[in-house]
Amino acid sequence: MGLEFDDAFIQAEEHRPKPSISEAGGIPVIDLSPIIAGEGEAFSGLVAEVGSACKNWGFFQVINHGIDGKVLERIHAAAREFFALPLEEKRRVRRGEDNPLGYYDAENTKNVRDWKEVFDFVTNESAELPATEEPGEKRTDVFWNQWPEYPPEFRDVCKEYSKEVEKLAYKLVELISLSLGLSAKRLSSFFKDDMNFIRLNHYPPCPEPQLALGVGRHKDGGALTVLFQDDVGGLDVRRKNDGEWVRVKPIHNSFIINVGDIIQVWSNDAYESVEHRVSVNSERERFSIPFFFNPAHYTNVKPLEELTSEENPARYEEYNWGQFFKARKNSNFKKLGKENVQIYHFKKALLAN
Ligand code: OGA
Ligand code: NI
Repeated sequence: MGLEFDDAFIQAEEHRPKPSISEAGGIPVIDLSPIIAGEGEAFSGLVAEVGSACKNWGFFQVINHGIDGKVLERIHAAAREFFALPLEEKRRVRRGEDNPLGYYDAENTKNVRDWKEVFDFVTNESAELPATEEPGEKRTDVFWNQWPEYPPEFRDVCKEYSKEVEKLAYKLVELISLSLGLSAKRLSSFFKDDMNFIRLNHYPPCPEPQLALGVGRHKDGGALTVLFQDDVGGLDVRRKNDGEWVRVKPIHNSFIINVGDIIQVWSNDAYESVEHRVSVNSERERFSIPFFFNPAHYTNVKPLEELTSEENPARYEEYNWGQFFKARKNSNFKKLGKENVQIYHFKKALLAN
């Protein structure tokens, strides 16, 4: 394997995983089959279930989501084949300072190196981002996907997967919208000109799993994440009611859904984006595939008017999503020696806690 353990991977003591983490009392599991009806008692029950999972956990698993298991098998196999290639081959599609898409094996989360390698692509073949982080920046840069030559079916399989998972993400956002008392399509309109982004994660066996993490603790910056994981396990979620880390037990052919920072801001903190991380182990490699449902780069994110009032004023200043994304990407690419951008930086001063 390409990764070699050194000090750069070592987490501060308070962030290291405990030797055993409970899978008990974990995130809710929601059966999505009432979606087919689209109305009626079972459907209202589903909306309520999604609402309470978002409020109490920020995370849930979905089953009967309508995506064929074969689609999942195909992308899992493609990821396995790609990451098994020699490093020189993978580096032919390497992410660089000037293109955030492609292969990368030296990502940092909060300035500590992650024990993983990744392949990133956008579902629209190219992505537009603001040229700088200057307020009011109008210039943009365009980035293109970098597809590897091997395995030959890689691109088609990724495309097939992204089409399916995107449909599911829209359904989930409709359920979330309804659960907030909004119309079904209220949030969907933000995803015209979306910047949806898929990451293939490979976590090789790690010789020091008690010192390192596959991904350090973080919150997802986008609107919603739809994650496929294999049966190895390792995703830990910070439980809201007591702050304990709990391991998400893999359920075959299910997806893990979590609210991202943007839904937290839109909902004015009714739903919170919850911290999570990935623990690694010394025996089995693990694969996971998050789909990040992101609005267009020009979206200015702020609490929705319908969800604020005199008694519940907006808790955030408006910020530009493209610039937020860009700043995050840069800090994950190389150690910047400062804290990376977080939504609490936009919390209104009077209310900051
Ligand atoms: C991420 C992430 C979790 C996992 O890539 O943002 O949280 O299980 N991944 O790989
Ligand atoms: Ni994440």
